[in-house]
Amino acid sequence: MQQRISPASTIAGRIELPGDKSISHRYAMIAAIAEGETRIRNYSTGADCHSTLTCLRALGVAVECAGTEVVIRGRGLDGLHEPAGPLDAGNSGSTIRMLSGILAAQPFPTRIAGDESLARRPMRRIMQPLEEMGARIVARDGQFPPLEIEGAPLRPIDYILPVASAQVKTCVLFAGLFAQGATSVTEPVRSRDHTEIALAEFGAEVRVERRKITVAGLPKLAGRELTVPSDLSSAAFFLAAALLVPGSRLTIAGVGLNPTRSALLDFLGGMGARIRVTDLASRQGELVGDILVEHSPLRGGVISSDLTAALIDEIPVLAVLGAASDQGLIVHDAAELRIKETDRIRTVVEDLRRMGVAAEELPDGMAIPGRQRFRAAELDSFGDHRIAMAFAVAALAADGESVVHGAEAASVSFPEFWETLSRCAQCHD
Ligand code: S3P
Repeated sequence: MQQRISPASTIAGRIELPGDKSISHRYAMIAAIAEGETRIRNYSTGADCHSTLTCLRALGVAVECAGTEVVIRGRGLDGLHEPAGPLDAGNSGSTIRMLSGILAAQPFPTRIAGDESLARRPMRRIMQPLEEMGARIVARDGQFPPLEIEGAPLRPIDYILPVASAQVKTCVLFAGLFAQGATSVTEPVRSRDHTEIALAEFGAEVRVERRKITVAGLPKLAGRELTVPSDLSSAAFFLAAALLVPGSRLTIAGVGLNPTRSALLDFLGGMGARIRVTDLASRQGELVGDILVEHSPLRGGVISSDLTAALIDEIPVLAVLGAASDQGLIVHDAAELRIKETDRIRTVVEDLRRMGVAAEELPDGMAIPGRQRFRAAELDSFGDHRIAMAFAVAALAADGESVVHGAEAASVSFPEFWETLSRCAQCHD
């Protein structure tokens, strides 16, 4: 699908966005191994979170969807069934990596695979701790999907995580639920903590001491009612659009503002963005609030070290803002970007250059000088949802009509993206 985008005169109004992708995956997976019924409101509409539901159904879990409400009848820690065929994680790294923690403990073998992009994403990072716990896993070329997981009774471990990855942390903590005793994960930097919060909400015993998270095995998890906050990583595209287009003023309602995710707001604030949070509340352990954003001249900035991990999903759209900022943007310590849905260092730089924007690839990041203008261009999502949406934002500030090819990729996290954008973007006519 191609999407044509005209330059915008303003971005304005009040919008609501789909539920957070990270939280939706976790609520669904924990609900499946809890006892009793869980009702999840505002479940992510993205294809990734629906891949998780498809996998859970194949494991014998009753899942009903009505709009954005999902009801899951939990089967308890030992109630999953052997699937009739391979599980399909689609494009979703979260599904394959986090669910593998549960699959590793099952008394039956499973094969889990996904699309072409997923088949290139490294799985050694979850295989190693799961094998230490007693599972046997065979991967293509020793590290890529499909994974053949031979479940086994698991031993608890104390795992020092070599990479900053909330998916790997979650995988090990999920596996730890099935092991007798305490399993811990120590992170190199604090990553998003939705798993810790969600497990505690469902009744697990979770202890957090600085960067070490410990979960007690064999908990009694109880199904419950939950509402997913709107996704801050999806909001990032609208924040960026409003910051970029003169005269804009936009409210984004009910956004998840968990401190392990909201570094984005602090970083943008440091660049000079006029952003205000109102109606802050706590919902099932997660902070939620409305965000008001107004067009602002931006100074530019440097993203490195721990900040890179905290902003990892937002770097494509921050790169777009960087080009329009006064001093530009430099990103370091972001080699992980090369193993996301696409090599996001390469795909971001490629689309920026198509727009006539100077940008340099670094081995672990990128350098984008400031004060640049976006030329209208033929852009490509490269099949990556965040690239499609980041360059839709750039196109709003271009000097003519642009086209994003492969625009359907946005559906992976945000199927309503194009419609929401056309609702709040007023165009020059
Ligand atoms: C996620 C963690 C991050 C992030 C991804 C979602 C999660 O990946 O990029 O979009 O929900 O835990 P890593 O764990 O690979 O850093």
